[in-house]
Amino acid sequence: MPPEQETTTLAPNNSATTNRPESVRDQAQGSNTSKVKPSLDNNVISEQNQHQPQQPTTPSARFSILRQSLRPVTLKFEDVSYSISIQSQKNNKGCISRREPELTRKVLTGVTGVACPGELTAMLGPSGSGKTTLLTALAGRLAGKLSGTITYNGNPNSSSMKRKIGFVSQDDVLYPHLTVLETLTYAALLRLPKTLTREEKVQHVEMIITELGLTRCRDSRVGGGMALFRGISGGERKRVSIGQEMLVNPSLLFLDEPTSGLDSTTAQRIVSVLRGLARGGRTVVTTIHQPSSRLYRMFDKVVVLCDGCPIYSGRAGRVMDYLESVGYVPAFNFVNPADFLLDLANGIVADVKHYDQIDHHEDQASIKQSLISSHKKNLYPVLKEEIQRNNSDSVALTSGTPRSSDNQWTTSWWEQFKVLLKRGLQERRHESFSALKIFQVLSVSILSGLLWWHSDPSHIQDQVGLLFFFSIFWGFFPLFNAIFVFPMERPMLKKERSSGMYHLSSYYVARTVGDLPMELVLPTIFVTITYWMGGLKPSLVTFVLTLLIMLFNVLVSQGVGLALGAILMDVKQATTLSSVIMLVFLLAGGYYIHHMPSFIAWLKYISFSHYCYKLMVGVQYSVNEAYECGPGLHCRIRDFPAIKCLDLDNMWGDVAALTAMLVGYRVVAYLALRMGKLH
Ligand SMILES: Nc1ncnc2c1ncn2[C@@H]1O[C@H](COP(=O)(O)OP(=O)(O)OP(=O)(O)O)[C@@H](O)[C@H]1O
Ligand SMILES: [Mg+2]
Repeated sequence: MPPEQETTTLAPNNSATTNRPESVRDQAQGSNTSKVKPSLDNNVISEQNQHQPQQPTTPSARFSILRQSLRPVTLKFEDVSYSISIQSQKNNKGCISRREPELTRKVLTGVTGVACPGELTAMLGPSGSGKTTLLTALAGRLAGKLSGTITYNGNPNSSSMKRKIGFVSQDDVLYPHLTVLETLTYAALLRLPKTLTREEKVQHVEMIITELGLTRCRDSRVGGGMALFRGISGGERKRVSIGQEMLVNPSLLFLDEPTSGLDSTTAQRIVSVLRGLARGGRTVVTTIHQPSSRLYRMFDKVVVLCDGCPIYSGRAGRVMDYLESVGYVPAFNFVNPADFLLDLANGIVADVKHYDQIDHHEDQASIKQSLISSHKKNLYPVLKEEIQRNNSDSVALTSGTPRSSDNQWTTSWWEQFKVLLKRGLQERRHESFSALKIFQVLSVSILSGLLWWHSDPSHIQDQVGLLFFFSIFWGFFPLFNAIFVFPMERPMLKKERSSGMYHLSSYYVARTVGDLPMELVLPTIFVTITYWMGGLKPSLVTFVLTLLIMLFNVLVSQGVGLALGAILMDVKQATTLSSVIMLVFLLAGGYYIHHMPSFIAWLKYISFSHYCYKLMVGVQYSVNEAYECGPGLHCRIRDFPAIKCLDLDNMWGDVAALTAMLVGYRVVAYLALRMGKLH
């Protein structure tokens, strides 16, 4: 998209925010609200300044609920430190490991600051300096050894706060097969309050699309990620991610490198939007790599990190004065403050003017150290004072009556289920009945039908073999499909659950129900073809019962796969483990070994293939049925050695065992997800 075209879409609103900051401030002060184009920002701006509810006279006033949801939040962080454990190298060598004291590495050390509503705060620093870690910690999404205090309007993080925080991660986590419009619409349906009608939510999405200049690609698929097709551009994808967070009108918006990999015009557009959002009363914090001086001018505050320690924290415009006061003056007049800061954060003083206080033969480490100690001496006390001063304002902000809606889910369980089911079906429609899968199932069913073609009823061993093949093939196939489900969905689940979008149970049920059509249709086709080609009992009742047992088997096997995937959250590990498990089930299924040693015979009782096989043999051959076991000789089928040892007397017990497994494995999968490694 040519830059000039992109600019036009945003122009009415953002030209104001970008080029004429003072006019935006005027708007923020309520002097000019009626003249501005109705937009999300206007809603916010008027909310900030006119606390009285408005009559819905303008189009934007229809979204008055969004105004209500916005509460300015002051973010304060004091002495935030974070360490990670490092695995001892020695422990990994050799089989016998000595217990060694755990090694830790400090990633963040004593970072302090305040981010206020209406401000755009940028975090700068070299790669690996801890920007993402700090941003994640501030958003309340960092698990581990975090110390210090992080407060939102003076309160610690809570589940109601979680829904007021927007977080745009560095890597865009989006469903590739949905279009831009679908992606944003589903987010709106899940995240916007139930008091808005569906039409209002859709209208709101349209507003965001226009606001972010995504009109041209609104019907294009997102693409990228794991999908093999290319979709919208990187910058557009980033804007879709931002749009998803803007939808809920977050009071606090965190963004991790929203401009990385973008051209300077698009980067400028994104930062303009962020600044516009901040001016609307939100607190916006972003990390950024290499901002141009044009971008740098748009920041209100900057926090500069060097090896996890702050070297500057305060107003963006005063950074050069501060550096001068501690002895670092650039050699050129028109240096980009961001470049100068990053050089210093790397301990490089090549462009620093000769200045008496600096020994230019200092090594990089001592330059960094001097900047860290200067911050501690000069800026830290000022920041502490500002935090104290802000405390009284926060009390005033939080003293209002808490809304009862604050702690509630924005949508009902049933609504979440419906939206998630529809979204899942839409996202996976291409894979559900993909030609490859249909070919796979059809070819195996026709091949096995030909191999067992009209098998003679007197060849019991062959027929029993076909039934065992049914149970094993449809034990493996759904299990391996299900293993991938949760490890692949993990980033999306983590992102959406972190922002309190839905109940885990509604997601879980929607996901498993969404997979059912494919899981059940393919085995039905398979059994229908192979059963009749293979010459099994030509009875409709027996066929239907065989099919039902097979579908039961498929559901249990899917449950095992889901549980393995959810527990391990690693496709490779889960695939390896499941092949071992299926091999054990195959061997213990009762077809290959008829007389297992008693100390290991219990294995067959945990094998769902064993129960399925038994049930299928049970319905295929009735109690008194006979077969020709020799010339003119008729024997009872149930006395055939391979069938006799199966003990077919307690078929209801087998059904009960399969039912217990069907429920049990799914409950295990759910619990594993709830307690597991999402974070
Ligand atoms: N869970 C972790 N395991 C191992 N190392 C970690 C972990 N979290 C953070 N680190 C380390 O902490 C340091 C800071 O990481 P972080 O991702 O915050 O850096 P960054 O400033 O965002 O870098 P970049 O600009 O490259 O994104 C890095 O050296 C990183 O390797
Ligand atoms: Mg990072």
